[in-house]
Amino acid sequence: GGDFPIQVRLSGQEYVPDGLTLAETREIARCLERAGVSAISVSAGNWQTLHYIMAPMFMPKGYLVEDAAAIKSAVRIPIIAVGRLHDVEVAERVLQEGKADLIAVGRGLIADPEWAKKAIENRVEDIRPCISCNYCVDFVSRALEARCTVNAELGEEFIFQIRPARQRKRILIIGGGPAGLEAARVTAERGHEVWLFEKEGRLGGKLHVSAAAPSKTEIHRFTTYLTRQIEKHRVRVELGVTLGREELLALHPDVVILATGSVPAIPPLPGVDLPMVAVAEDVLLDRVSVGPHVVIVGGGGTGCDVAEYLLHRGHEITILELLSHIGRGVEAITRRWLYYEFKKAGVQLLMRHRIARIEEGRAVALDERDQEVILPCDSVVLAMGYRPSDEMAFCLEEDFPVPVYRIGDCVRPGTILDAVTQGAHLAAKL
Ligand SMILES: Cc1cc2nc3c(=O)[nH]c(=O)nc-3n(C[C@H](O)[C@H](O)[C@H](O)COP(=O)(O)OP(=O)(O)OC[C@H]3O[C@@H](n4cnc5c(N)ncnc54)[C@H](O)[C@@H]3O)c2cc1C
Ligand SMILES: Cc1cc2nc3c(=O)[nH]c(=O)nc-3n(C[C@H](O)[C@H](O)[C@H](O)COP(=O)(O)O)c2cc1C
Ligand code: SF4
Repeated sequence: GGDFPIQVRLSGQEYVPDGLTLAETREIARCLERAGVSAISVSAGNWQTLHYIMAPMFMPKGYLVEDAAAIKSAVRIPIIAVGRLHDVEVAERVLQEGKADLIAVGRGLIADPEWAKKAIENRVEDIRPCISCNYCVDFVSRALEARCTVNAELGEEFIFQIRPARQRKRILIIGGGPAGLEAARVTAERGHEVWLFEKEGRLGGKLHVSAAAPSKTEIHRFTTYLTRQIEKHRVRVELGVTLGREELLALHPDVVILATGSVPAIPPLPGVDLPMVAVAEDVLLDRVSVGPHVVIVGGGGTGCDVAEYLLHRGHEITILELLSHIGRGVEAITRRWLYYEFKKAGVQLLMRHRIARIEEGRAVALDERDQEVILPCDSVVLAMGYRPSDEMAFCLEEDFPVPVYRIGDCVRPGTILDAVTQGAHLAAKL
């Protein structure tokens, strides 16, 4: 009735051959308006084009705004634009340019429920940014409780709370990746005196290598956010420093947190020491160069990142993977897109193959029947997983006089979500 607003969510277009078109949905919108609908929210896609519904980070910001504008020009009722509008500037521009009457923010509010409040208060740098990694979607689609890569509070709002510390402690955090940074943010916000030591010249740890593939640069936004937050909370940061036992104890910490991350796992393969062999993170961080035809050993998330990174630089790629599929650990919508992109680019995918040895100018693999497969190539890139770093092992010795906690990849290599969750949960308890 007239006193009860009804809002309809439409797929503006389905982005598949013979799918719903904008011309059709403009007509549907007119029918809805005549039927008394109060507003229309313009999404897109269908089951085949899920990346238009819950867009991963490779989709442009505001990718559905023009669809909203096309429907807006067909009706007089308010039109709501949605889809990667969690950048306040982009959202504001949509409204200023009159492309929609309202904007909807979905995952941006999962990442930071105070998104709108902070935007109104001009505290944009305090908004914890959604990086469109779709881990939340992955959890929900597997009928698990939603969790968020950047927001450890999600789903635990009544359990996890940042309360002022009962007793101010001096906390030393070793390692400035997401685990260490999140632990620093939360401990400092609670009022502790926090020192963070990072052996490299910049903060972020493996967030940098995670963001190296062209489709994943959005991850840098999270590094920027965490870095700003620890500056704001006056964490004392020492870059380019590795502490020895005596130096550390001379700082008289009450607590030490190890967040030293992981190192590449390199199996003792014949030929692994040849100059044509590189490890994934060295390639992704441009520390080494590789030849035109590259065999990537391991088709998990890291191997896929390397493949995408090298494809953009014109290399020819073969991926060797032990499992029957690539992209283990990559969320489902992105994985499907990767398959499509790799197929389009002519990547050779050898599933159920394992590397046997590397020889000058070729990699030798075994197929599932243990038959040798010779793969001529210029370079081999190893993307065969990570193992916990054993840096600062002296802190774990029995006679070490200060309580020590470990978080993130140095316990077990995992994800940014694992690192952030462990960092936040520990910090909330200290
Ligand atoms: C190629 C690649 C892509 C990835 N992509 C994703 C992704 O898309 N999504 C996702 O969720 N996860 C991804 N990951 C995993 C994710 O990056 C890690 O799980 C996460 O960064 C772990 O955080 P951390 O803080 O425990 O360790 P790290 O990020 O490794 O940080 C550890 C830090 O400790 C420092 N350090 C080590 N020893 C010392 C010492 N003695 N003194 C001082 N500092 C020290 C290191 O320099 C480093 O800065 C990816 C990983 C790789 C390698
Ligand atoms: C966990 C989750 C569940 C969703 N469920 C639905 C749904 O049932 N119907 C729908 O039309 N959109 C659904 N969406 C899509 C959102 O409404 C929104 O259109 C989409 O996330 C893009 O906006 P964003 O970039 O601001 O997140 C869902 C999104 C998420 C993250
Ligand atoms: S899990 Fe990823 S996509 Fe979902 S809200 Fe958090 S940062 Fe955004």
